[in-house]
Amino acid sequence: MAPLRVAGSVRVPGDKSISHRALILGALGDGPSRVTGILRSADVRSTAGVLRALGAGVPELGDDFVVQGVGPRGLRAPARELDCGNSGTTTRLMAGVVAGARLDATFVGDASLSRRPMRRVARPLEAMGARVELPPHGGLPMTVRGAPLHELEWKSDVASAQVKSAVLLAGLVAGVRVAVEEPEKSRDHTERMLGARGVGVHARGTRVELVPGGAPRALDTVVPGDPSSAAFFAALAALAGGGELTIEHVCVNDTRIGFLRVLRRAGARVDFWQRDVEGGEWVSPVVVAPAALRGVTVGADEVPSMIDELPMLACLAVYAEGETRITGAKELRVKESDRIAAVVDNLRRLGAAAEELPDGMVVAGGGARLRGRVVTHGDHRLAMACGGLGALPGNEIEVDDPACVDVS
Ligand code: S3P
Repeated sequence: MAPLRVAGSVRVPGDKSISHRALILGALGDGPSRVTGILRSADVRSTAGVLRALGAGVPELGDDFVVQGVGPRGLRAPARELDCGNSGTTTRLMAGVVAGARLDATFVGDASLSRRPMRRVARPLEAMGARVELPPHGGLPMTVRGAPLHELEWKSDVASAQVKSAVLLAGLVAGVRVAVEEPEKSRDHTERMLGARGVGVHARGTRVELVPGGAPRALDTVVPGDPSSAAFFAALAALAGGGELTIEHVCVNDTRIGFLRVLRRAGARVDFWQRDVEGGEWVSPVVVAPAALRGVTVGADEVPSMIDELPMLACLAVYAEGETRITGAKELRVKESDRIAAVVDNLRRLGAAAEELPDGMVVAGGGARLRGRVVTHGDHRLAMACGGLGALPGNEIEVDDPACVDVS
């Protein structure tokens, strides 16, 4: 559609999920771990702050720094509430750590995080023997009271890496065997990173089991580029009039590349190679060349591998031929905003045609000149996805709160 050619290469910031875990596993490790290329964003700073409040040796985040591991038994009760800011990953993963460490702590966050569902982590932690106090709406503040935990075999009703990781970390810290089974496989960074640190983790299909055995080994981490950030560049490249764009050093873990696969199915040329492993993750350049795009259908089986990229897919769909239908994605309603309602509302505000489904959305293709102001509700992915369309020639898009992208 657009007459512009795309060319050159870009490097995106470090992966957010791996950045959180590099800090947490570094802090629980048996010695010093170097972290290089961490995402220095508000969410990751929230995890660093919570770990410091628990007595872990996490310095100011830089491009290259060392976390002093204190081991699973080395954390201490915090003197104040644990402020998780906007970060669901910080809250849910650290709830597991706190429960396993037999500490008491109250988790608080901003207005958006305080509304998000925490029963999904409270239930398995209670089933292990912890006590968790939640307000009636099931969000924050959440108080976790640790206790000697026992083994757990948990069947999660959502595919959520945060829930899975909370249970695995509780088992790791408490030194008890845990297993989690999910309806679809969610991102598997926790299990990969634990495995790389010598912890007994066995994954098979949608089930993962942790066999306890001491502290994770200290290990240096080079954080690869975030595929969720790469998605914005990949989408814009796919919408250009010619040329190609290289996005360097991207994490191409199978549980994260749903968007790249769907972009390919829509007709774009998308090349990457799953052969170079760094720190237990596949890392590759991603090369995207534009094409006339077709509408696509995405269902529940593909959703977890592109959950954070669905707003971008919906925005891209405006420029495809034919309709794009996303279903099986009701988790989008409990992200930093209700991303089904908010994406559809914003596309309409800008002049595109979209409709909500209870568990997804339908976006009409055919292209449109988009004009207007994006209402982000403070949600970084909405600012990037809807606001990013402003880079296309002919569009005039303003974003109400561009600074909210600091989260990622
Ligand atoms: C994340 C898991 C996903 C994702 C979030 C990061 C993680 O959330 O949306 O941005 O790092 O574990 P859910 O586990 O709630 O699906």
